[in-house]
Amino acid sequence: MASSDPAATSPEARDDDLLDKVINLTKRRGFIFPSAEIYGGFRSAYDYGPLGVNMLRNVKQAWWRSMVQLRDDVVGIDAAILGPPAVWEASGHLATFTDPLVDCRRCHERWREDKIDGVCPNCGSTEFTEARAFNLMFKTQAGPVEGEGATAYLRPETAQGMFTNFANVLTTTRRRPPFGIAQVGKSFRNEITPQNFVFRTREFEQMEMEYFVPPAEAEHWYRYWIEARYAWYLDLGIPASLLRRHEHAPEDLSHYSRGTTDIEFDYPWGFDELEGIANRGDYDLTQHSRASGVRLEYFDQATGERYTPYVIEPAAGATRAMMAFLLAAYHEDVVEGETRSVLRLDWRLAPYQVAVLPLSKKPELEAVSRDVLTRLQAHFMCDFDVTQSIGRRYRRQDEVGTPYCVTVDFQSLEDRAVTVRDRDTTAQTRVAIDDLLGELRRRTGQD
Ligand code: GAP
Repeated sequence: MASSDPAATSPEARDDDLLDKVINLTKRRGFIFPSAEIYGGFRSAYDYGPLGVNMLRNVKQAWWRSMVQLRDDVVGIDAAILGPPAVWEASGHLATFTDPLVDCRRCHERWREDKIDGVCPNCGSTEFTEARAFNLMFKTQAGPVEGEGATAYLRPETAQGMFTNFANVLTTTRRRPPFGIAQVGKSFRNEITPQNFVFRTREFEQMEMEYFVPPAEAEHWYRYWIEARYAWYLDLGIPASLLRRHEHAPEDLSHYSRGTTDIEFDYPWGFDELEGIANRGDYDLTQHSRASGVRLEYFDQATGERYTPYVIEPAAGATRAMMAFLLAAYHEDVVEGETRSVLRLDWRLAPYQVAVLPLSKKPELEAVSRDVLTRLQAHFMCDFDVTQSIGRRYRRQDEVGTPYCVTVDFQSLEDRAVTVRDRDTTAQTRVAIDDLLGELRRRTGQD
């Protein structure tokens, strides 16, 4: 069977419509839906559909595996999203987690001053009000009692949960620096201009790790985590040409940071932040020690030394990373004279890793196919599709990034073998059903 060789399709020139194509694909195929769509949507909120939820979980799982599972110096937590004002006073968020807000004097649209280059994106006016500091925290009430005591905030970052649990983790796990606490979960920011699909939304998911180190080792670990995080994106298939590191100038640093390097991705609008790695110094533990009265230090029994660890923080967005993986994976090529769109996702990220496709709806084929499905389901996320022609079904699986299609045909009833089709090369190989699991594990580098 003729096949398209992905190696032959050179790194494509950037497609002007790439963002629209990916947004369209994710909606059409059930990755990402505008939230509350039947009510006209809710600006900047998105729901993850059947394929999107698989992929987002895979992104988070790949992160957890690399940051927690494969290390002996990092543990995880899952902290509350709602928090009392004291946490956010101590962290500095209530005072300084602001963006400069301006109103256009002509059309009265509101903008983030640092994102518009002095020109109103809506009407082109250059006349704006003075910038005001707009706090991005979502404030709410906890419990039925109105008043200060009941005020709560939705966390704008997962990081503070790691600092407020520093002592709990230290005493329960008997760790010593350098060690890290990792967390994956939702964060909320009342962004002035949410934009670019799921790049900047008001509700999003973060994957953050706070790595506590002796102060003298901070610079070493800061550089270490920049490289480790950069390598993670490469390993999961983003080409180096779409990634770069950008070190912030001292005047651009956040209130807590002694140094920040962003890993940037080449989005359709140009290079922009994908993840930030910061040296937060002893800012957070010192602030929370002062405000809570609880000593957040490390006491080294061997040396008798007591110190406040410095923190190196790789802070990534799960939803933003998923968008970058989708953009990097989207390709169009020609197979048997027909243009196809294909997501060349790493198998670890693909919503389905295997699709089992009976050639026809005949009951005897379906029975064998279900047997094949059961053998694979414990090891891979599988789709099962009996609708439409086999060619159409291959295209549908290509479009959502399924690396392997397993086709069960009438010959399978005789020889107990199936055809394995590779998404990227479209090459087809006959494999005995009894060898199928081993073959797919070998192809995905698991055996
Ligand atoms: N704890 C540090 C911190 O939160 P950040 O650079 O503000 O640092 C880290 O956020 C990552 O979270 C960003 O690099 C981005 O991937 C993601 N992120 C931040 N704000 C976001 C938003 N409004 N929508 C989607 N992702 C966002």
